[in-house]
Amino acid sequence: MTPSKQAILVTGGCGYIGSHTVLRLLESGYKVIVVDNLSNSSYESLRRVHKLYAITASASPSAQFEDAALPIETLIPFYQVDILDRPGLSKVFEDHPEISSVIHFAGRKAVGESGRIPLDYYNVNISGTVNLLQVMEDFHVRKIVFSSSATVYGNPPKFPIPEDSPIDVVMSPYGRTKVFLEHIIKDLCVASVIKQQEYLQDRAKNANNNDGAEIERNYEWSAMLLRYFNPAGAHPSGIMGEDCKGTPNNLMPFLSQVAVGKLERLAVFGNDYPTQDGTCIRDYLHVVDLAQGHVAALAKLDQEQAAGNHGCKAYNLGTGTGYSVFDMIKAFNKAVGTELPYKVTDRRAGDVPNLTSDPRLANRELNWKAEKTLDEMCADLWRWQRHNPDGYSVSASIPHPI
Ligand code: NAD
Ligand code: WQD
Repeated sequence: MTPSKQAILVTGGCGYIGSHTVLRLLESGYKVIVVDNLSNSSYESLRRVHKLYAITASASPSAQFEDAALPIETLIPFYQVDILDRPGLSKVFEDHPEISSVIHFAGRKAVGESGRIPLDYYNVNISGTVNLLQVMEDFHVRKIVFSSSATVYGNPPKFPIPEDSPIDVVMSPYGRTKVFLEHIIKDLCVASVIKQQEYLQDRAKNANNNDGAEIERNYEWSAMLLRYFNPAGAHPSGIMGEDCKGTPNNLMPFLSQVAVGKLERLAVFGNDYPTQDGTCIRDYLHVVDLAQGHVAALAKLDQEQAAGNHGCKAYNLGTGTGYSVFDMIKAFNKAVGTELPYKVTDRRAGDVPNLTSDPRLANRELNWKAEKTLDEMCADLWRWQRHNPDGYSVSASIPHPI
């Protein structure tokens, strides 16, 4: 099926990675439906997507972009629904029988918080996802791209980290939700192969008794588990980016709030790690490259399905290059044009010295590669932050509440 005929349900589509992905999907010719309970985002992110898509369309005479003239409610149908709400989710699938796949971002993501309120994390991330999978099964939508995380690797034994590195030694409840969910989705894929075999056997047995009018069924699930490394940056327009509620937990949003004067200085969590400069190394990935990774994953799922291949596969989405905390401060200082204040403090519990991906499987099989440089990532983040020091602070009214 061509992208223009496909509709993708994006859960968590108002969030940081979700909103950038919604834009890339539209630009790639997909129809998009968004579900989000707005617990960590606002509807304003979709207004920005709508605006940016119109800009893309105006720069291209292609008929593909004619839909950019549609009002936002039509271009991006939005449902303020919690993934724990089964009837609410079912209504979305009833309203949109054209949905062929789901990209599932919705969930809670703060590592530290997950240690304090683990049940909330297990409830939203695990029960919410199981709920979503059940509704998908009810509506025969069996293709999913799932947001996993490099955190599943814990403190890995080998660098760069390949996908077959162990994933069962994770330190936080948040990380464990990702590990459990990877297992749950894999189990579902395996079970669906068995169900399909049983169906085909029954069908062959009853071949003489039916009149050939039976619709051919396919129960098989296809899933991609995308293990993101450290997403950072913002859309190059400066219109869209990460809208942190409260004090940011992550390095780059924290640093950018120091740059606009909202925070006094960065605390560098430890400089006694076994790395070149003593600070931790991470694989920072531009959010626009990450968004494109989802488009590539969907294309691959379709290609495999057309070839009769189903099942579940994990891919690292990273650049393959690691940078230390000091490297990141230096790169961001360059973008801002000033030396931002920092102080070295104690280590943060749970941090590991190095998480650098081996992205070659995704490069090869998804035909995807992170393209943007560290300087672009910092410049884009700074553009977003300085133009939107308070994020999407405009009123987040919902145009058509469900
Ligand atoms: P985000 O918080 O910006 O986006 C998540 C979205 O899900 C938000 O819009 C939030 O309102 C929504 N949501 C939360 N709970 C919900 C619920 N119960 N029902 C419906 N919607 C709900 O986070 P993000 O950074 O865009 O992350 C997206 C996904 O990627 C998450 O699953 C996260 O765990 C995963 N991930 C993020 C990172 C990262 O560093 N940002 C790294 C690896 C993996
Ligand atoms: C990066 C480096 C910190 C903040 C987290 C999650 C992971 C994934 C991505 C969701 C580390 C240091 C940070 C600060 C600092 N998210 N740092 N001062 O911890 O690699 O990954 O986000 O799946 O699961 O764990 O990212 O940005 O928090 O930290 O010195 O104020 O910056 O110690 O070395 P992390 P991060």
